[in-house]
Amino acid sequence: SNYQHILTEEVGPVGVVWLNRPNVLNALNRVMVREILEALERFDRKERIRVILLAGKGKAFAAGADIDEMAEENTISMELLNQFADWDRLAQIKTPIIGSVHGYCLGGGFELALLCDMMYAASDAKFGFPEVNLAVMPGAGGTQRLTKLLGKTRALEWIWSGDMMSAEEALSFGVVNKLYPADTVFEETLNFAKKLAEKPPLAVRMIKEAVHKAVDYPLQEGMYFERKNFYLLFSSQDQKEGMKAFMEKRKPDFKGY
Ligand code: HXC
Repeated sequence: SNYQHILTEEVGPVGVVWLNRPNVLNALNRVMVREILEALERFDRKERIRVILLAGKGKAFAAGADIDEMAEENTISMELLNQFADWDRLAQIKTPIIGSVHGYCLGGGFELALLCDMMYAASDAKFGFPEVNLAVMPGAGGTQRLTKLLGKTRALEWIWSGDMMSAEEALSFGVVNKLYPADTVFEETLNFAKKLAEKPPLAVRMIKEAVHKAVDYPLQEGMYFERKNFYLLFSSQDQKEGMKAFMEKRKPDFKGY
């Protein structure tokens, strides 16, 4: 595919999307966000792709939205462009998305990372929302997703100060799953992605949906959703195969349906 600002690659069942504007620390312009969306949706439709991995080329994951591109916008041009509607579609991807973050992960870059289902990070990673220093604010989910992870008081502290959190802090807040040295984080993330790709894909997808409901729905509705997904999986051949293989003490052979 001919993308301008990203690269895509298939490593077996893992679809990798590389942010690729290293000269500007992968600052996200509108074309780039559109390309990320297209690449993720394309992988999401491919049956052979079981897991998506998102990472940055060069020194950083992404240092935020492209400030040069935004500087002269006004309210009406923003409303007409409605660029954040693309981000809502990013959240609809059913395939697991794992982030591999190194270097700066700021502003819109942090929002992109928070859209990932899980995140591994390099011990040199730095996370933050510096928007306040530009007299704006996070606009693609930052105030919502960081608050759900950290709680109100800590989210306000970080978003008001614009300070950068270290990888260790991000780990302790549950923003990041695990830390690795910068030179192995991509490989380690890929290893996890490959392991996840071997699991029965329908169950993996239903689990993603249900866990996301825990964040978005009141408990009782989330419980209802979970139960329906559980029952739904009993229409799959993989469920029959998984349980039969257990009883026959052999390895299951999952088909994805
Ligand atoms: C445009 C950017 C950029 C950005 C870096 N660059 N971040 N260009 N938009 N967000 C460019 C620099 O201009 C520079 O280009 C090159 O990348 C290298 O960056 P340096 O600043 O020279 O590197 P360094 O001194 O190491 O400082 C790194 C940095 C700094 C601390 C990350 O670049 C920085 O503060 N960047 C802006 C971070 C930010 O404010 N992000 C939030 C954006 S608002 P040249 O041509 O000079 O070499 C936002 C809103 C989200 O994200 C809304 C939802 C999408």
